[in-house]
Amino acid sequence: MLPTTPYRGTRDFLPPEMSVRQQIFGTMFDAVERYGYTRYDGPILESAEIYEAKSGQEIADQQLYSLTDRGGRRLALRPEMTPSVARMIAGNVNSLQLPVRWYSHVNCHRYERPQRGRLREHWQLNVDIFGSDNVACEIEIFEVIHEVMSSLGATRDMWVLRAGDRAVLDSILRDVAKIPQDLVPRTMSLIDRWEKMPREKLRAEAEEFGMEGPRFDELAEILASGSEVLSRLPEDVREGSPLVQMMDGDAKDLFVFDPLIVRGLQYYTSTVFEVFDLSPENNRSLFGGGRYSDLAGLFTTQRIPGIGFGMGDVTLADFLETHGLLPEPRTQVDAAVIPVTEELFPAAREVAWLLRQSSVRVSTPLELRKLGKELTRADRSGARFAVIVGDEEWQDRRVVLRDLAHQQQELIAIEELPARLITLHHEA
Ligand code: HAM
Repeated sequence: MLPTTPYRGTRDFLPPEMSVRQQIFGTMFDAVERYGYTRYDGPILESAEIYEAKSGQEIADQQLYSLTDRGGRRLALRPEMTPSVARMIAGNVNSLQLPVRWYSHVNCHRYERPQRGRLREHWQLNVDIFGSDNVACEIEIFEVIHEVMSSLGATRDMWVLRAGDRAVLDSILRDVAKIPQDLVPRTMSLIDRWEKMPREKLRAEAEEFGMEGPRFDELAEILASGSEVLSRLPEDVREGSPLVQMMDGDAKDLFVFDPLIVRGLQYYTSTVFEVFDLSPENNRSLFGGGRYSDLAGLFTTQRIPGIGFGMGDVTLADFLETHGLLPEPRTQVDAAVIPVTEELFPAAREVAWLLRQSSVRVSTPLELRKLGKELTRADRSGARFAVIVGDEEWQDRRVVLRDLAHQQQELIAIEELPARLITLHHEA
């Protein structure tokens, strides 16, 4: 026998789990649509090259699911959506009126060791703006994150948006910490792991690539000073940073400046941000994003800057669960129409049809069972109502409407049934 379990690191979504996922993402779609974002989609298979060029080594060398098709083309299952959407924008730039606001909801595959918050397949909400360098993009993207989080029921004490700027960090390293240019990339990668690894280990790694201990300690001190370090940066760096501009304006409360935010993907050029859960039980990054000024440059000579974020369902579900915000699965139907004999099946279908005309979700049995059993089934499926079609009542085109939640029932003419059922439904 073959195993019935899904491939390691992927999940089946049975109807109850699917219902939860659908509700969460439905809420998020509504939130981003309130900001004017429109949905797009694309293929799960892409040319492997689009990740190898700019996503960075971790994704390209270790995490890509790659294959060669029968024509010898090197393909990959998308590990993320940003290179694909940059391709679509570049390919359609002449017919688009930039800037555009786009969102998608896609599954992504990464070959990782499955663990809490990390699987091999996850679903990601992607929200991006293309075609503007203005700080208004940062402000709007941060506002969208706040809108999405609050629409899910999360309050400000549950999470924090931390943002840094790669150009600022580069200047902190070169101009303030006086780190030689050739050590800057490796120092950045060290900072990306700053809070995940013991300080001594980081110090040892720094020494290994040529940074002396005292310089490392000085760097640690500078980084610990948070936004204070900004006053020590050259003016052109400060003026060129959207985040620094935001810190003087009305949008400063949307985020906390954190020079330690670097993020793993190579294509980010300035603003980078991550949302963290503040619960001690789930103290981790939930999702993130950033500004990428030339990813579209893979596909076109026209410069099309982008900024946005990707929010995964695995980390989000952990967050919602930790804070008691996971929605309940939706019930399958509102009402079960139950005929008491096989001869009454057509009558039951007629009653069900009538209810469906009023947008009531209704099921009818596929096989005849005892009334008691059908009522138990209806109750277990979460149906609020049972509509019993009996021989005698049907002769007068009447049925019994039973409110399963309140254990009450009434005899009712079928043309009055839909309105009555809807009234009861709204009462409690
Ligand atoms: P990322 O940080 O690689 O960025 O992934 C974004 C989010 O996707 C993560 O924070 C996490 O919620 C989820 N995620 C990623 N990998 C996994 C995994 N193996 N298992 C479960 N969840 C995962 C990007 O992908 C960028 N393309 C996002 C972006 C959009 N930047 C700009 N626009």
